[in-house]
Amino acid sequence: MLNKIKEINAEIAQFKIETKEQLEAFRLAFISKKGKVSTLFDDFKNVAVEEKKLVGQELNKLKTIAQERFDSLAEVLQSGSLSSVDSSLDLSLPPIPNELGSRHPITIVKERIIQIFERMGFNVSDGPEIEDDWHNFSALNFPENHPAREMQDTFFIEKNPDMILRTHTSNVQVRIMEQGKLPIRSIMPGRVYRNEAISARAHCMFHQVEGLYIDENVSFADLKDTIYHFVKELFGKDITVRFRPSFFPFTEPSAEIDISCLICKGSGCAICKQSGWVEIGGCGMVDPSVLENCKIDAKKYSGFAFGMGVERITNLKYQIKDLRLFTENDIRFLRQFTSAE
Ligand code: PHE
Repeated sequence: MLNKIKEINAEIAQFKIETKEQLEAFRLAFISKKGKVSTLFDDFKNVAVEEKKLVGQELNKLKTIAQERFDSLAEVLQSGSLSSVDSSLDLSLPPIPNELGSRHPITIVKERIIQIFERMGFNVSDGPEIEDDWHNFSALNFPENHPAREMQDTFFIEKNPDMILRTHTSNVQVRIMEQGKLPIRSIMPGRVYRNEAISARAHCMFHQVEGLYIDENVSFADLKDTIYHFVKELFGKDITVRFRPSFFPFTEPSAEIDISCLICKGSGCAICKQSGWVEIGGCGMVDPSVLENCKIDAKKYSGFAFGMGVERITNLKYQIKDLRLFTENDIRFLRQFTSAE
């Protein structure tokens, strides 16, 4: 028996442990219930009485040695400080790729628009997408029977017909005018909703950036200059701007903003329907009655407002022909956009 203990001691000392598998083999060989040390304990009953004391001591020593060797090697393996490496790890394999997302084209263009206006001294205002009739329509001079209020254009909240999904971000203009802190020089980016069937050219949800500038002596010339500067910053110096007389209930006079077609440079193509011009938004001088609705002294203050569709501008910038691409989340489409420069 003593000889056997010696042998196993030697075996333990020589056992090579460099991997987790070898450690497990060591455990099975020496420590487990069916391992060599346990088997010796089973045989202990056959040891002669006079030898029992010595053999018992040696056996216990062996057991401790085996356990200690196992514990210290397990610790070394755990901390990874063994020089040789687990053979199941193939370090020549390529790494798992770190997938990077990209910004949505609408976000890219919206942020670029914000950046241009911020440089001109505009701040950014936010407001609710679920709005009451006053802030979306009444304060903005929409007559009671204006078609824009009708079911085909506006999403009404069923439980409370006074509440709607905003049809433009002009509701935020009303809200900041009501706060009464003048002068105001602010833009309002955000989502708007209109009850339109979804097609390549229309969607029930889209994005606008509107702007409002109110101070003493603000004129149409200020409006024109602001828009000129914006268009040249966003689309480039060669693009020309045209103001076309139009109508909005909340501005007087009002105009549509057209820019020379980016594709054909004004000579006429399918995108501009052979006209050489494409519309990017509307604008005008804030109607004095809107100022009064918002408790601003229209004799002292005047201002201009403008609004543009972010999808429309993005379509022009990147020549995207189907609005639905913006909401389908096809990464083959989304991946292509990096910057609006
Ligand atoms: N609110 C208008 C729209 O959604 C856009 C606009 C804003 C026009 C400000 C003129 C002035 O169509």
